[in-house]
Amino acid sequence: MEDAHRTEGPGRAPAARVLQLTDTHLFADPAGALKGVPTEPALRAVVAEAARREPPPELVAVTGDLVHDGSLEGYERLAQALAPLGAPVRVVPGNHDDPARPCLAPGPVACCGEVTLGPWLLVFLDSAVPGEDWGRLGDAELGRLDAALAGHDGPAGVFVHHPPLPVGCAWLDAIGLRDGAALLELVAAHRGKVRFVACGHVHQRSERVHAGVAVLTTPATCVQFRPHSERFALDADAAPGYRRIELLPDGRFATEVVRVRAAAARAAAGGG
Ligand SMILES: [Fe+2]
Repeated sequence: MEDAHRTEGPGRAPAARVLQLTDTHLFADPAGALKGVPTEPALRAVVAEAARREPPPELVAVTGDLVHDGSLEGYERLAQALAPLGAPVRVVPGNHDDPARPCLAPGPVACCGEVTLGPWLLVFLDSAVPGEDWGRLGDAELGRLDAALAGHDGPAGVFVHHPPLPVGCAWLDAIGLRDGAALLELVAAHRGKVRFVACGHVHQRSERVHAGVAVLTTPATCVQFRPHSERFALDADAAPGYRRIELLPDGRFATEVVRVRAAAARAAAGGG
């Protein structure tokens, strides 16, 4: 089953397909669970469904909270779990990650940096602040984005763990991106180049348009948080999922969130 949402719907063949997965929260223990949900079986079910239904993507983007306990084993198994998607993987760290480790995972996994796909530039930003749940890009990351956009003549997308806009959950908005306004100002200064900012962290789907830029959040591959909650609350009715982003040659994009009910069921059963 799926719960799909399309924010832009042009009907042209994409220049590239990106699958965004986020907040995988793996543990050293393959049976490790977050809020009662075994995270690795849930991830493997999401990956299996994406591999079954999607054409091979050009890139898999994983937007943080890759591993919940900072374990090297978790990063190693993340790379293994994503292998069925058959694409290079690019990650950014989240607040639960060990800042030194996402780049150490074996296989075709890279951390942060930039990727060019056809006319598109994709910039992967590090918003993690060691020891804090909130995020900040700081001058170095903002400067890197500024330079990357200045040197690129075409459409662009940004991937970052912490959303730059509130999602309407007080407890999550309090641990958002502290310099989100600076990110959005920088994006606006490069008039029209950045088409979307895709984020994780909030374990729920949201889509907003800010000054012509789509700000997207994507369901976690494990447990979901309840929209519009003042305090921490799970959303037991929402299934894990992923986001498909089709990058079109003319600079437009199309995106859908695909929910994977089987991931919830398999995770609940503790099976892989
Ligand atoms: Fe998370």
